[in-house]
Amino acid sequence: MIWLSSLGPARIATALVSILLFAILCLATLRRERQRLRRERALAESMLSTGDAAAPLLVVHASQTGTTEQLAWQTARALQLAGVPAQVCPLASLTRETLQRPARALFIVSTYGEGDPPDTAAPFVRSTMLTTQAGDAFQGLHFGVLALGDSSYAQYCGFGRALDQWLRGAGAQPLFDRIEADKADEKAIELWRQQLAHIAGTRDAPDWSGPAFERWQLTGREHVNAGSDGEKVCHLDLRPAGGAALPHWQAGDLLQVRVPGEPQPREYSIASVPADGSLQLLVRQARRADGSPGRASGWLLETATIGDTLEARIREHRGFRLADNAGRALILIGNGTGIAGLRSLLKARAALPSQTSADPRCWLIFGERSARHDAFYAADIARWQRSGMLTCCDLVYSRDQPERRYVQHRLAECRERLRSWVDDGAAIYVCGSLEGMAAGVDAVLEDTFGRGRLDELTVAGRYRRDVY
Ligand SMILES: Cc1cc2nc3c(=O)[nH]c(=O)nc-3n(C[C@H](O)[C@H](O)[C@H](O)COP(=O)(O)OP(=O)(O)OC[C@H]3O[C@@H](n4cnc5c(N)ncnc54)[C@H](O)[C@@H]3O)c2cc1C
Ligand SMILES: Cc1cc2nc3c(=O)[nH]c(=O)nc-3n(C[C@H](O)[C@H](O)[C@H](O)COP(=O)(O)O)c2cc1C
Repeated sequence: MIWLSSLGPARIATALVSILLFAILCLATLRRERQRLRRERALAESMLSTGDAAAPLLVVHASQTGTTEQLAWQTARALQLAGVPAQVCPLASLTRETLQRPARALFIVSTYGEGDPPDTAAPFVRSTMLTTQAGDAFQGLHFGVLALGDSSYAQYCGFGRALDQWLRGAGAQPLFDRIEADKADEKAIELWRQQLAHIAGTRDAPDWSGPAFERWQLTGREHVNAGSDGEKVCHLDLRPAGGAALPHWQAGDLLQVRVPGEPQPREYSIASVPADGSLQLLVRQARRADGSPGRASGWLLETATIGDTLEARIREHRGFRLADNAGRALILIGNGTGIAGLRSLLKARAALPSQTSADPRCWLIFGERSARHDAFYAADIARWQRSGMLTCCDLVYSRDQPERRYVQHRLAECRERLRSWVDDGAAIYVCGSLEGMAAGVDAVLEDTFGRGRLDELTVAGRYRRDVY
């Protein structure tokens, strides 16, 4: 107050008016932002389908790591804004009856494994695609397909092609030729937008905004498997460049990284939560057939120096978040750099107030080569064991005994516990390599529960995978 008395009344009045104007401006901005959020929420709610086909246009997605789901939401939003009511739903929620009603549906689907459907679509394939004979079952259905894939795989867009053929074979009418997007190619997405413009009856492609790449800075790098038989693995620490605020993400999400000189982005499972104050990754050096280092991993682990910048954006991976499983017991299974995605989930679980979890048990089954060199995040794991958060912890090192031993072997030995946890409502998360680990784990799960029950767990979001 001393400083106030040293100012004249005119200056005090000016200062007070300025403060008042500033406060009014802040309130107006806050009000506008609240109105915008309310509008967005109403729009999102109106686009959330319950699987009921009464909606004029269905936007159906089948996604493993979230790209097609994100495109489905953008598609529905663009149509909605152009005046075409649209509803988003996962392929898994559709039934033969839904597709038999006259409707328009846009399918956005990816392909996994060797031309396989994404996990969440596999039950639909078994229950509906494989049991519907060719004929005119779906003659009232008009559809379009956007197939996402990667042409370096032998079965390029295998599932999108199979779905398209199946729909045609069952009498559905294509609205336009199937569009295939190689590595989410922007030209193909543009073609899709133009088809949406036709559907909406507008000349302009509808409004479309994907999340932009931002500049990030490499702020830390630690080699965590010195002396290992395996390729080098580093724990990386990244922060937005130029002191920008850390964006929000949820445990289970991915970071899409574009390193200098390489336009094609690569995905990495995020190993931290925003409360850590930085975005952390666990990256292994990839090698090409000729022994040269992989582009992105080579840059991140060798070429870059601390302080260098790269382009990146967060990719929501709804299929691997805790979501409705936050209150359930968790069975977390992974190998190698797969511990990254599991670590973020464990961190998110540790941050939840204990009363939020009806069943707070956590069971980690993690595999690597040797306890001596490859015990990733050992300090975190030991802390969670001490605190009681990790109820069970199985660390399986394949080369620490004469015979090779992997996580799926341990899981098979613990079949009784596995069955009892799942019967009590536990959710299963698998992160790491698709070949070997994830396939082996899936075989044990199928053997224990049967494919039908495993399909039910997948559709209910209680069996989730982030595998690559
Ligand atoms: C959902 C998801 C999550 C992931 N999470 C992680 C993670 O947490 N940690 C992690 O380390 N990795 C993760 N990955 C893998 C990661 O995205 C990259 O694929 C990996 O780092 C290799 O990229 P790169 O650019 O270093 O290698 P690239 O240069 O792309 O090479 C990778 C491989 O592609 C082949 N290849 C590509 N181009 C050629 C060519 N011209 N000649 C010969 N061979 C070629 C080779 O087999 C090579 O081994 C994840 C992948 C997915 C899909
Ligand atoms: C482990 C793995 C296997 C894949 N297999 C295929 C394949 O057989 N054929 C193909 O066209 N694309 C394949 N892809 C590429 C994906 O279909 C593509 O990245 C797609 O954009 C992912 O979309 P999503 O995030 O919605 O699942 C594969 C990708 C991964 C990571």
